[in-house]
Amino acid sequence: MKRTKLIPALLALAVLSGCGNSISENTGEPAATLQEQQTVSQKHTESTPDEPEVTKQTTTSAPAEPEPETTTTKKKAKKKKTQKTKADKNAPGNVHFMVNTSSDSTTLTWDGVEGAEGYSVSVKKGKNAEWEELAVTEDTQCTVDVGFNKKYSFSVRAFVTRDGKKAYSAVNELKFPYLYQKDGITYVDGMMIVNKTYPLPADYGCGLTEDTEQAFYELSQGAANDGISLWITSGFRSYDEQNWTYWGYVERDGSTESADHYSARAGHSEHQSGYAMDLNFAGMAFNGTPEAQWIEENCFKYGFILRYPEGKEDKTGYNYESWHIRYVGLDRAKRLHDSGLTVEEFYGLTSEYSD
Ligand code: DAL
Ligand code: ZN
Repeated sequence: MKRTKLIPALLALAVLSGCGNSISENTGEPAATLQEQQTVSQKHTESTPDEPEVTKQTTTSAPAEPEPETTTTKKKAKKKKTQKTKADKNAPGNVHFMVNTSSDSTTLTWDGVEGAEGYSVSVKKGKNAEWEELAVTEDTQCTVDVGFNKKYSFSVRAFVTRDGKKAYSAVNELKFPYLYQKDGITYVDGMMIVNKTYPLPADYGCGLTEDTEQAFYELSQGAANDGISLWITSGFRSYDEQNWTYWGYVERDGSTESADHYSARAGHSEHQSGYAMDLNFAGMAFNGTPEAQWIEENCFKYGFILRYPEGKEDKTGYNYESWHIRYVGLDRAKRLHDSGLTVEEFYGLTSEYSD
């Protein structure tokens, strides 16, 4: 079954919401390595058996064209699978793409490649599985009927027709957690990621995203129905506001080491993303209140996660914050909630400053 759809709202926001600011090419982190990540497979973190390995887009062999099943062709296909082939002759350039999975579908988005006639979207359902073509499209986005699965890899190849035959670009294999970097911003599984490892450009952001505001409205209504009153104490914070906030704490505490446990350095705060907010009395006194308890148990039903849970300081990089929630969308919020893992654990990411 093949189909293409409009890009989901969350993904569109993740990609497009720069609020008219020109997004700087690089903040010292990802964009410089964009070219690199299309050709090199890198392990990003030390993984435990329960945690996924972080692998970036890797150019490998092209998926085999379907052929009739004979003994000879079976042998040929086997040979093709182990052979690392490059792009076909005269093929367009490689496709750098983003993957955003939900429980029942996956949306892939990419920049158009010059000269491409169309794009072939494929999935590999396991390390040793064959590539399966899911869709062929002239568009630069595609939604396919393949849901979330940590074992799946995706590829998008551009093609042109030469002498009646299709010439394909090389396979850019994107494995879970589908890490994608563009304009100095990092996305994991289609979700913008901001932590101590992954910063935002200084000029990024201008307010809470519409989806986040709408989701908070629904969250507060749901809470009110249970007799719980919730309000936003701090939503969007710009790079400059965060810089001022962080250095204020450093001055108060007398060291960056102390402040780093609970306040993000400028460029590293989720508040700059427009997807995060602090609720009610944002401070330790809020821990253990009925409101904090309600948030912990219910926020996923509205597309939010408690971003810095208790006891996970070494994973998230921050002390427990019962008041800080992050909008990630309904499907992802449920997945994360059900897993009992933090974003860093679920996707196998670090949250550490480089200096
Ligand atoms: N308090 C959180 C970590 C921030 O400053 O973004
Ligand atoms: Zn916060």
